[in-house]
Amino acid sequence: MMIQPSVINIFEKAVRKAGKSIVRDFGEIENVQIQSKDVGDFVTTADIKAEKILLETLQYYYPNATYITEESEKIKGDEETIVIDPIDGTTNFIHGIPLIGIVIGRVFEGEITDGVIFNPILNEFYWASKGKGAWCNNKKLKVSTRKNFTNCVIGTGIPHTNKVYANYLDEINSITKSCAGLRSMGSAAIDLAHVALGKYDAFWQRDLNLWDVCSGVLIIREAGGKVTQPDGKEWTTESRDILASNLFVHQEIQEKLKTKDFEL
Ligand code: IPD
Ligand code: CA
Ligand code: CA
Repeated sequence: MMIQPSVINIFEKAVRKAGKSIVRDFGEIENVQIQSKDVGDFVTTADIKAEKILLETLQYYYPNATYITEESEKIKGDEETIVIDPIDGTTNFIHGIPLIGIVIGRVFEGEITDGVIFNPILNEFYWASKGKGAWCNNKKLKVSTRKNFTNCVIGTGIPHTNKVYANYLDEINSITKSCAGLRSMGSAAIDLAHVALGKYDAFWQRDLNLWDVCSGVLIIREAGGKVTQPDGKEWTTESRDILASNLFVHQEIQEKLKTKDFEL
């Protein structure tokens, strides 16, 4: 009888295998074919190859699970749901910027129970399981303790093309004039990891998919941070907008984002 390894061990096996393929393609980016899914929204042969490797590995251990993946149709299975983004940060990948993450999350009865983000280029493996803390390689993660907004570094995703919404410049204006700096990594998963690392003090972004954020949400919570929607409402696996913080500055950033009614 096969002894089933832990969820994180299985996810790690999958991302490390897919990571090898991504690293090879990253080294030969000029040979990778790029297709456009939508304006400014790219998919490469590398994304598709990586997703196939992830699915093959995961389906061996979880043949009956439901799979929600960015690059293929939903695979309907039982209540156990595995969410996959084979490359978060495809634009970075295409441009040779080494800030990308392979994301796998497990959702059960609407709750994220396990999640990993792996940057194969920098060999950074982030993971969290509910109640077990959050880790990057061998380091336990803890959100920052900064309370004074003027000392805070805040992350956001800068919307582009069809993701641009009416008041994003007002939001940026409201936040940036009162903090120590605004950052954007080009990968929501890696941005969220920076909140858990205690490097960003908060992060917000609108119009994201579950595969961009599922692992980051759990990793931040397990590192002691707080996750809601930008208006303070509960974040659920159906939410598209997110605000994550070290807890101390949550209310303040929420107030600063409240200045207008935002239209998507
Ligand atoms: C994108 C990245 C980016 C965010 C976009 C996402 P992709 O994911 O997370 O940071 O701003 O909204 O779509 O397309 O690179 O997997
Ligand atoms: Ca993504
Ligand atoms: Ca992707």
